Amino acid sequence: MQLADVVPSLAGRIIGVFLVVLLLILLCPWFGYLRLPSSMRWWPSRPHGPLRALSLTLKEYTGSRSSEEGYREISKHGQPFALCNPSFYPQVLLPPEHVGWLLNQPEHVLSHEKANEDIHALPFLAPGFDNYDHLELIKAIRHDLTRNIANTEHALLDELEHAADEALGPAGDQSWREVRLAEVLDQIVFAACLRVFFGVSLSRDPKFVYQVKTFTRVTGAMMILVSQWVPWPLKPLVGLVAGLPIHYYWLRLIIHLYPTFQQRIQCLQTKTDPPPTDLVTWIVDLALARNPTKKVRISALVVRLTLISFLPVDVLIAMTQHLFLDLLSADPKHAYPDILRREAETAVSSKSHPMPQTESAIRESLRLHPLSDRMLSRRVVQRPGITLPSGQFLPRGTWLAVAAVGVHRDERNYPDPDEYQPFRFVGKGAGEENKGVLVPATSERFLAFGHGMHSCPGRWFGAHVMKVAVRVILMNYEFEPLDSRPENSVVGQTIIPPLDVQVRVRGRK
Ligand code: HEM
Repeated sequence: MQLADVVPSLAGRIIGVFLVVLLLILLCPWFGYLRLPSSMRWWPSRPHGPLRALSLTLKEYTGSRSSEEGYREISKHGQPFALCNPSFYPQVLLPPEHVGWLLNQPEHVLSHEKANEDIHALPFLAPGFDNYDHLELIKAIRHDLTRNIANTEHALLDELEHAADEALGPAGDQSWREVRLAEVLDQIVFAACLRVFFGVSLSRDPKFVYQVKTFTRVTGAMMILVSQWVPWPLKPLVGLVAGLPIHYYWLRLIIHLYPTFQQRIQCLQTKTDPPPTDLVTWIVDLALARNPTKKVRISALVVRLTLISFLPVDVLIAMTQHLFLDLLSADPKHAYPDILRREAETAVSSKSHPMPQTESAIRESLRLHPLSDRMLSRRVVQRPGITLPSGQFLPRGTWLAVAAVGVHRDERNYPDPDEYQPFRFVGKGAGEENKGVLVPATSERFLAFGHGMHSCPGRWFGAHVMKVAVRVILMNYEFEPLDSRPENSVVGQTIIPPLDVQVRVRGRK
């Protein structure tokens, strides 16, 4: 047989296999539909044929409002509903009445960690990564960072003032200039967080800051791509390729941070000098306490540190952007920025901390623009599945969540829910208006930080950074109002503030 005879038949077979695989992938949304009980309601409609399932799935790519609309039409009446998902796998959204039940299910029945893997796609981007092992280090955020908010306040303030000066120009310069809001807040908030995490030498090291930011952007983008845009059968393959740049930046960050970690391990082991109060100390301390006899693997610690501290800074920046966009685009007759500025000046001069109006404004922007339109994600891991309080049976592997934007815009929870009312959380009772508002408090009605035992461990620190950043920026700078609130974009389920908004600003000193 000649080579020329074999090649076409081999090519034909490859094309044939490719087409069969493609067909199976395209049928996935419909297979997903068939797994759910026939009594399950769907939004916007039931995908009862393969083509319908595929077209509903493709519509979700550009970030539809299905979860919010489905909440209004179905969840509000106490029923769960399913929607198609760009991952080619349906998701069941539970009504508010089921939240207590959801939170009470143990990890071996409804897994938070497995749902997390679906959200950050690390099993595909970094197949060797053990997410459960990693949880221990989150205590450095939940306990140490939170406990040390007061101790790190001085450094935070110093860095915020320094970074604001660099990003917005000197506070003494009263000429108007135009800046890109996303860029300046990125500069200011990143600098402030890196200062608290690593101290001044690293937070002002341009090479390190560049590496951290590039890692964060690349990893965030790859996570969204693989978790939300790639059909599930293709995730292992796409994830391997998409993970390559992440590994490259991990390597660079390990090289950069290795000496700092080495010194810190020595410092904590020899106990000669007191260690600096920063995230490196807390993480090394946890690692040493966990395995006192074993050698600490610095590379593994750096990788985990990047995930629990760098990626969330991007969330914090996005939330600070929402806050400024809301404030600057509100009707100028309310003069909200002036009210917050006066409150900040009073708080600084009286050395008292509660800033209820600022805290309420932060909470209001988090309510209107949470990080994702779905929260409290879980995956059914119990075999063969689980029965919902509604009596419907969901097979193992089903994704569950709650429509957070729906909950936040439910008039039963918040009067005039679509209206921006920055002071809606300020206490209404006698004397209550001067009481602080607990920004990080979570509840079944406020899901911006999740709710229950898995809610965001960095929320106390995050809320504090936002408050001090608003104080520093508004006391030193003045902004021209915006004509209207620029639209967010929604990628899959992630809500992203507009990145190209220019604002006019000048110094006030
Ligand atoms: C305003 C800013 C922030 C918002 C809105 C926010 C929101 C969230 C949300 C919604 C979750 C998922 C909760 C769940 O799984 O139910 C989360 C998890 C997490 N956040 Fe935040 N976060 C913020 C700031 C921060 C900061 C500053 C840090 C660290 C310094 C941080 C560290 C984490 C970590 C480590 C997790 C994963 C927890 C786990 O897997 O158990 N967050 N955050």
